[in-house]
Amino acid sequence: AKPVQFALYYESLCPDCHIFFRNQLWPTFQKVSSILNITLVPYGLAQVKAVGDHWKFTCQHGPNECLGNVIETCAIHLLKKQETFMPFLACIEMNTTVLPNESAPDCARQHGIEYDDIRKCSMSGLGNSLEHAMAEMTNKLSLHHVPYVTLSGVSYAWLIFYSATVKLFF
Ligand SMILES: *[C@@H]1O[C@H](CO)[C@@H](O)[C@H](O)[C@H]1NC(C)=O
Ligand SMILES: *[C@@H]1O[C@H](CO)[C@@H](O)[C@H](O)[C@H]1NC(C)=O
Ligand SMILES: *[C@@H]1O[C@H](CO)[C@@H](O)[C@H](O)[C@H]1NC(C)=O
Repeated sequence: AKPVQFALYYESLCPDCHIFFRNQLWPTFQKVSSILNITLVPYGLAQVKAVGDHWKFTCQHGPNECLGNVIETCAIHLLKKQETFMPFLACIEMNTTVLPNESAPDCARQHGIEYDDIRKCSMSGLGNSLEHAMAEMTNKLSLHHVPYVTLSGVSYAWLIFYSATVKLFF
């Protein structure tokens, strides 16, 4: 059977995004990860403009959120498999006591992940262009709120109305 195509559009410091990871996404992932194909898009309601040869991001919750977003974007890119990046990103997103750049090194250690490559990426042109790709994915959707979920490309807000299966999932 083909996996369910699940996509989450979020931003690293949004309180409802933290709650969504803790109460819904992470518990669901632990139960049924094998039937989900997860796409995480850490950008949310940020804005982007070109400045010289790079992209400048302005985030809803300030520069620390932008830094969290690009750390998570680099982790997704470098770790590739959802089995690897999900526990790491959930660890960061479920920690509401420190900033993402502070919890990330600890979360990496806990999950046997090499953090230095992620850190370097987050400060590089690569991280900047990867984050721009997240902006482009998000801007296709004209979001007004986060977290925002799609299943097989269809907005979760619409689906939950019609599908009992989705209600079982979440
Ligand atoms: C999972 O999603 C990605 C893109 O979001 C896609 O490229 C890939 O083919 C999907 N994999 C499966 C097994 O559906
Ligand atoms: C995280 O970011 C904050 C604020 O931007 C900074 O003061 C702090 O030194 C950073 N911590 C790490 C571990 O990089
Ligand atoms: C959050 O991260 C900090 C720094 O890694 C750690 O000391 C703290 O225990 C974490 N808190 C939670 C609730 O996981």
